[in-house]
Amino acid sequence: MKVFLNESGCLLLDHSEFKNFSIHPLWLRERLNSERYLDQNNYQRLYEPSLLDSNIKFSKFCVENNYLKVEFTDNSKGRFLIGDLINDLYSKDVIPNKKPWKNNFKNLPIYDFKLLNDGENFKKLLCDFQKLGFVIVKNTSVEEGTVIKFAEMFGPVRTTNFGKHFDVVSKPNPNDLAYTSLGIKAHTDNPYRKPMPGIQILHCISNEADGGDSSLVDGFAVAEHFKNNESEMYKMLTETDVLFKFVDKDIILENYGKLIELDHRGKYLQSRFSGRLDYVPYLEPYQLQKFYEARKKLYHLYESEEFELNFRLESGMLMMFDNIRVLHGRTEYDVNSGFRHLQGCYIDHDSTEGKLRRLSSPL
Ligand SMILES: [Fe+2]
Repeated sequence: MKVFLNESGCLLLDHSEFKNFSIHPLWLRERLNSERYLDQNNYQRLYEPSLLDSNIKFSKFCVENNYLKVEFTDNSKGRFLIGDLINDLYSKDVIPNKKPWKNNFKNLPIYDFKLLNDGENFKKLLCDFQKLGFVIVKNTSVEEGTVIKFAEMFGPVRTTNFGKHFDVVSKPNPNDLAYTSLGIKAHTDNPYRKPMPGIQILHCISNEADGGDSSLVDGFAVAEHFKNNESEMYKMLTETDVLFKFVDKDIILENYGKLIELDHRGKYLQSRFSGRLDYVPYLEPYQLQKFYEARKKLYHLYESEEFELNFRLESGMLMMFDNIRVLHGRTEYDVNSGFRHLQGCYIDHDSTEGKLRRLSSPL
């Protein structure tokens, strides 16, 4: 493989994967990874890269046995595995891409808790979670507190004003409709928080009542549907800031956000939907009319047979879902027909993504 410099002093490699890249000397200099430059325990730099000579140049370079070897004009030197360099140039990540889904699973991503101490199974669960935004786990336990133990297999629990965990049972004068026996349509939890809870885990201790089935909907798939079929509505939903609000005797929480939020490149970032606690901002009446039509359409897609997945959590089962992507709901249940008790908690995306990177990394 040939390696040479261009007129700007950047490195070019004659390799199909490198064709579009010219490598700046400083970009490579600050990636030197031997013990002189990088702490070998924590992989953190031992110097301040902003203090390197900004006019640094390559003084020597060659490719040998799949390694690019380089020396710089400040007398530093090192070598890079070509494969690692390609991953770095393309910003490749081990986290799988989201895979939109509808209500047409041949096999649901159900994992047996007793098999999760096998590292490969645990990794598979994490991959499914990244792709689909949810997994179901059976055979946990019916003990209270199981949800916290399970959550801590991934990382720390996010405590909120509901506590470290919350008990989803019917109780008098509740501060949230979750704590009644009413049916609750597809929603994302706590859109009024900054930031919203990333991941929710709901563990079923008892589900003996008539009703109380669970549902999940992929907000990403519904957003894709809008993008491809309803461009004007998609624009309203991705550009209108809605206020979400929680009020109880101790605290008032507020946050604004779009029902479908995109990143700066126009790529799907997250969903927000909670018809119980959203406040649409003032808009000109013709715009409001359009927004309400779009929200109605969104609501009906979320509850449609095409998109809404329905199943029943039995005692000892739990579901873990990405709260900013996958909406959840439940059917009404009859408190007089049997006891229903779920426990839930939140964790951050850092936990699942970080564990998956750890399990996928040779370092
Ligand atoms: Fe909820």
